[in-house]
Amino acid sequence: MQNTQDIIERILELKKERNAVILAHNYERGEIQDIADFTGDSLGLSKQAMEQEADVIVFCGVHFMAESAAILSPEKTVLLPELYAGCPMASMVTADALRAEKKKYPDAAVVCYVNSTADVKAECDICCTSANAVEVVNSLEEDEILFVPDKNLADYVSRYTTKKIIPWEGYCPTHNQILTTDVIRAKEEHPDAEVLAHPECRRDVIDLADKVFSTTGMVEYVKTAGDEFIIATERGILHKLRKDNPQKRFYDVSEYTVCPEMKAIDLGSLLLSLENMQHVITVPEEIRNKARVALDRMLEVKR
Ligand code: 13P
Ligand code: SF4
Repeated sequence: MQNTQDIIERILELKKERNAVILAHNYERGEIQDIADFTGDSLGLSKQAMEQEADVIVFCGVHFMAESAAILSPEKTVLLPELYAGCPMASMVTADALRAEKKKYPDAAVVCYVNSTADVKAECDICCTSANAVEVVNSLEEDEILFVPDKNLADYVSRYTTKKIIPWEGYCPTHNQILTTDVIRAKEEHPDAEVLAHPECRRDVIDLADKVFSTTGMVEYVKTAGDEFIIATERGILHKLRKDNPQKRFYDVSEYTVCPEMKAIDLGSLLLSLENMQHVITVPEEIRNKARVALDRMLEVKR
């Protein structure tokens, strides 16, 4: 068995040999965030995937993120170290089900959260992330918006637009199980802390928050804001928040804020991924071209 330092050194060697870049979502294990070339939210990582000169992108995140990288950078080899790392919310809408729903709302634009499969993106007019959902919806001409798959993000957007938002019945299990009682308890324990919530949370939780941000939004905000924060999102982000701001205090809103899918990759699977060039994520050309239009339209929207 190799020790951790040996594994890290081997990963760095292979990264050089393969001309690879490692991208990690803010929810990944701390050890993965630490070895990554870039960490970020879904929007930031999509942009990084496109901008990199590397031949290989090792995507430490979940399947839809690696798929988005493969759609945006088809000339690069995109690896997902653990193939079973999926997003339960992305599985809550299929292309078939969406096609059926679209027939009911022929005049609606279809906005799809990037937490969705490539097949679903191919059925949409434009994608969005949690960082730009309001801007994306308000950039559209249509007055009716079919918004998939996150009902909580759809509800959040509906508060900042005059358009009629038709939500899908999907949700993130990790965020949806953050309850108002969790926030109230955390505030009682830390009365001076500001509450930062992710827009995948339920409306009643968001109503108790001081600020609502994507994960990178939180990372940026805390740099110049106060000293104490209650964080209502997946707890992997605490690693970065604490590392970047050792003098500040960050509290998890509850003990249940874990997305198991985001913890699937460890240093061992990252090493195997680079050693064996596994698992290559590709998207069939027809789907890729359609999904690309939806992603490109999103990337053109000004924030
Ligand atoms: P970001 O949009 O902040 O990346 O996080 C959302 C998420 O749940 C990713 O899985
Ligand atoms: Fe999906 Fe939620 Fe996990 Fe993100 S945190 S990958 S939205 S289940």
